[in-house]
Parts: sequence; C-alpha cells; structure tokens
Amino acid sequence: MSEPKLVPPGQGWTVVDVGESDTTVYCRGNVYAKCCAAPGVAELSAERDRISWLSGTGVPGATVMDWSESDEGACLLTSAVPGVRGDLLPSSSHERAMWSLGRVLRELHSLEGCPFERPLAEVIATAADVVRRGAVNSQFLTDEWRRVPPEELLAEVVAESAYVEKVLEPVVCHGDACLPNIFFDPDTLEVTGLIDLGRLGIADRYADLALTTIQLHDEWSADPAPFLQAYGVPDPDPRRLHFFRLLDPLTWG
Ligand SMILES: Nc1ncnc2c1ncn2[C@@H]1O[C@H](COP(=O)(O)OP(=O)(O)O)[C@@H](O)[C@H]1O
Ligand SMILES: [Mg+2]
Repeated sequence: MSEPKLVPPGQGWTVVDVGESDTTVYCRGNVYAKCCAAPGVAELSAERDRISWLSGTGVPGATVMDWSESDEGACLLTSAVPGVRGDLLPSSSHERAMWSLGRVLRELHSLEGCPFERPLAEVIATAADVVRRGAVNSQFLTDEWRRVPPEELLAEVVAESAYVEKVLEPVVCHGDACLPNIFFDPDTLEVTGLIDLGRLGIADRYADLALTTIQLHDEWSADPAPFLQAYGVPDPDPRRLHFFRLLDPLTWG
C-alpha cells in the first residue's frame, strides 16, 4: 500500500503523473511540483540538489523554484521546461532530434566539477536489494529476461561487472536518460531541457548510452546511428550496452 501523497501548497494543481516511486507530479501554469511522502524525502532532496547544480551549467534543464518539507513529506517546485517530451515527438522529427540529443548528452558528459557520484558497486547493491525483496518490476524487463529468475539476471550483472569496472569511463551521467525525461523544441528540434535528475552523477558513460539507444529503438523504432554519431561514439561497446540495459530494470522497486 502506498502512503497518502503530499499535495503542493496552494490551489489549482493538476496531477500529471503518479510515479513508480513514492512521488506524484503536479502542474500549475509554468511550474511543476514533485511531492513525496516521508520515506521519499531523502531521494527528492537529492534530486533538488542535482537540478540546482545542473542549472548552473550550460546544459538545459529546469530551475528549482521552491522546496518545502514537513513530517509528512516534501514538495519540490521546478520551472516548466518548454517544448515537447521526447516520447511524444512525431516520427518525422526523430532523425533531427537524435542529432541534437547526441550533442547535448556529450555536453552533459563533458561537464566538470560534479559533486555527485553514482558508483557501480552502489548501483549493483541497490539491484541486489531489489532482487532480494522480490520487488523487480517485470514491466521493465524484456520478454526474454522475464522468463529468467531475477537472481540469475543479477548473477549475470555481477559476473560482467568486473569487465565494466576495468573499462569504466566516468562522466556526468543523467542516470535515467529515457525519452520522457528529455524535452525538444518542436520546430528546431534542439533539446530544451533534461528533467528527472534524481540519479544524476558520475558513472560510466554507457549507463546513459545504453538506456538512450534502447529507447530510440523501442519508442521511436529508430536506428540510433545518428545519435551515436552526434555523441561521438559511432561504434559502441555492445558488452557495456547489454550490461547497463540489464542492470537498470533491476534497480527500480
Ligand atoms: N520541470 C518540468 N518541466 C516539464 N515537464 C515536467 C517537469 N517536471 C515534470 N514534468 C512532467 O512530469 C513527468 C514526470 O516527471 P518526472 O520528474 O520525470 O517524474 P518520474 O520520476 O515520475 O518520471 C515528466 O515526464 C514530464 O512530463
Ligand atoms: Mg521521468
């Protein structure tokens, strides 16, 4: 049973999204509110700090407008990112959008001085905890992976992690670089902003490349080649793509 959700201060808010985690997103005019009950406060404040940090860089995103916290939970108010969510762009826009997305992801990955880390060992520990609790959300798994016990999927991740650690390329990753978290100008198809930054931190560049490319394939039925070309890794390492695609669905729950 999920706990009662906190509502943002004031009137006139519309519910936009009830998230997988303990959060509910509301909208009013040009402001979004992400609210959570008490158990989610640490995670939401971590997201607030990441949004603040990114807004001081050249990479587009939202800005933090307000933060309120009580014994019941917390609410984070951010400015609305203009444009259209990536998953809602028409197919005629996909190719151009892939070029700008590749450039912006490269820009994000090139930032320096990021105070947030997302070490692989911690992510794997989170996955191990989700698996141990039997909390893996099978909606996030492919048909093939759904037929395999989650313990076996985790064992594959653990076995492959030695390789990934050996070739690690730490950069500032978004951490959930999927299309509903990326906005585009519908005319120019430039990226207007990145949102949902709770997992932003220094990690292997393939943590983002793996999720974005599989989303381009699954959501847009697109060959991600233009994205990879614009990003500057036209021939990605298939082993690391596979690794992070397998790891990610085990970390939600
Ligand atoms: N600052 C924002 N600007 C524009 N849309 C937003 C903003 N914040 C949230 N949204 C909308 O709400 C949805 C859910 O917010 P998000 O932060 O991605 O939460 P979740 O963790 O549930 O995915 C987004 O996909 C987007 O449509
Ligand atoms: Mg999101």
